[in-house]
Amino acid sequence: MSDTGLSIGSRRFLRTLAVGAAVTVALVVATGAARGLSPAAVLGQFTHMTGHLHAPRLGLLAAAPVQIQIHVAAVSLALAIGIALMLGLKGNTLHRALGWTWVVAMATAAISSLFIHRANAGGFSFLHLFAGWTLIALPMGVFAARKHNVRLHGRTMTGLFVGGLLIAGAAAFLPGRLMWQIVFG
Ligand code: HEM
Repeated sequence: MSDTGLSIGSRRFLRTLAVGAAVTVALVVATGAARGLSPAAVLGQFTHMTGHLHAPRLGLLAAAPVQIQIHVAAVSLALAIGIALMLGLKGNTLHRALGWTWVVAMATAAISSLFIHRANAGGFSFLHLFAGWTLIALPMGVFAARKHNVRLHGRTMTGLFVGGLLIAGAAAFLPGRLMWQIVFG
């Protein structure tokens, strides 16, 4: 514990979350600027859409293309396992089994996302940077574990969980996107 009352792991978690959120907002604004939109116009797009929380309209997911269904299944599995691992689930064999399943789920999430092109009119969008980062950092995290570099392994996987999974997941619920339509639209 530090003098702020937070453990070093929690502080790293919150710092990664804050940096990831700031980078995401910057990327959204930069993508808008590339399309000739001011930051106010980009952020205004989100505030113009109204909605309310309701029972999930899962029919929208059932009607979505298969790559989106695979993507959502993979991220759901990665989220559940990631939370268990972040909570410090103990046991070497269990950690290895869940860890490998998480790696496969994250790789599936990243690869399936390469076949989804909705956010940027048929092309790659800034969200694909998350996919590129995941496909580079995942093997690095596995390699660090195999070399028993626990510190690097923990940093890499925590960064991917918070910066990749949680931030990309939060972005998936922005107004207009499919997850937003499923729960708010
Ligand atoms: C809880 C986590 C996540 C959820 C719920 C989620 C959900 C979705 C959904 C429903 C779509 C397709 C429909 C749409 O764009 O509205 C999508 C697209 C996408 N997701 Fe995710 N996702 C999550 C995490 C991730 C992660 C970890 C990555 C990267 C490794 C990622 C990368 C992408 C990309 C690149 C797209 C395509 C964006 C585009 O159309 O240009 N997502 N996501």
